[in-house]
Amino acid sequence: MESQTHRVLILSRRDIESVVTIGDAIESVEAAFREHGLGHATMPAKVYLDLPEHEGDFRAMPAYLPNLKIAGIKWVNSHPGNRARGLPSVMAVTILSDPATALPMALLDATYLTLVRTGAGGGVAARRLARAGSSHLALVGCGVQAKAQAEALRRVLPIRQVTLFDLRQETARALQAEMGGWGMKVRVAPTPRECVQEADIVVTATPARQPVVEADWIRSGTHINAIGADAPGKQEIESALLARARIVVDDKEQAFHSGEVNVPLKDGTLKPEQIDATLGEVVAGKKPGRRTDEEITLFDSTGLAIQDLSVSRLAFDRCRERGLGTAIDLLGL
Ligand SMILES: NC(=O)c1ccc[n+]([C@@H]2O[C@H](COP(=O)([O-])OP(=O)(O)OC[C@H]3O[C@@H](n4cnc5c(N)ncnc54)[C@H](O)[C@@H]3O)[C@@H](O)[C@H]2O)c1
Repeated sequence: MESQTHRVLILSRRDIESVVTIGDAIESVEAAFREHGLGHATMPAKVYLDLPEHEGDFRAMPAYLPNLKIAGIKWVNSHPGNRARGLPSVMAVTILSDPATALPMALLDATYLTLVRTGAGGGVAARRLARAGSSHLALVGCGVQAKAQAEALRRVLPIRQVTLFDLRQETARALQAEMGGWGMKVRVAPTPRECVQEADIVVTATPARQPVVEADWIRSGTHINAIGADAPGKQEIESALLARARIVVDDKEQAFHSGEVNVPLKDGTLKPEQIDATLGEVVAGKKPGRRTDEEITLFDSTGLAIQDLSVSRLAFDRCRERGLGTAIDLLGL
């Protein structure tokens, strides 16, 4: 009997960009969070490989979602100095494998998919935790992830006004120009305080290691997506605000290690019992979403492998349907 050659599909960023938008990834990512909240996902916390000589790190992120027939691993970095070299600070590849046979199905560029899944995760959180009529968005840090958050948030909330702040004013101005066609009022604030103080939703997406948003600046009823802190020692929000907010993390183990809560937990300003829920528990209905118009809610995103693999599966299915990508006989089977 003639054996059938197994082919692995190589999917480039261009292939993936043509079939998956942040808006249409929101449902896939929400399904993955639901599985996580129901306890159906296997996802060891990400493994960090520090590169102190290069002021960066690599991270290995495996996950298995049996009900969604998804298994695989993402290999991703964080090199904040890369922008000065004309390279993205975050780049990634994902291997998607068949859980039944372990055969690799696809090798995907995951740089674009990382921002898709992070944006979509922010959208899932805001849909459950922000006030329903939230219309004023503040972005502190105006890089790649901030734009992805804004893309997702405008799909789930009636955003009409955006205020931007970045340490580098030209970055804020560039994002303002990009948002020109979005049909919203977009302005650049001179200080982080003026950026956030009248917002309904605040997104922080900087690599900061000292808080950039102070507790007194945030009014009651605000929802915060804290995106930037994803490694030990990173912190964007003053600890006093975390102590006042209702905190929902993406995953407790990862958040305690490297999320927005990692510094205040280590210095004792915050107690582990003050972390109210995981986003998966909220999506699965085990814990409530927003409870009152007054509470300050904070979603602490570290980025989960289940998000990566759910959007990778979406990209794989759509590319295969449309005949995109390059199939290669990688294993010689
Ligand atoms: N939670 C997640 O899932 C997730 C996913 C990807 C990246 N990240 C993290 O998000 C952060 C941003 O990533 P990115 O790809 O958008 O990076 P980026 O380099 O594209 O953008 C970061 C922006 O923050 C600005 N900035 C730096 N310090 C600031 C400060 N103190 N105040 C205001 N602005 C400041 C920079 O000028 C830059 O424009 C990084 O820390 C990254 O590791 C988190």
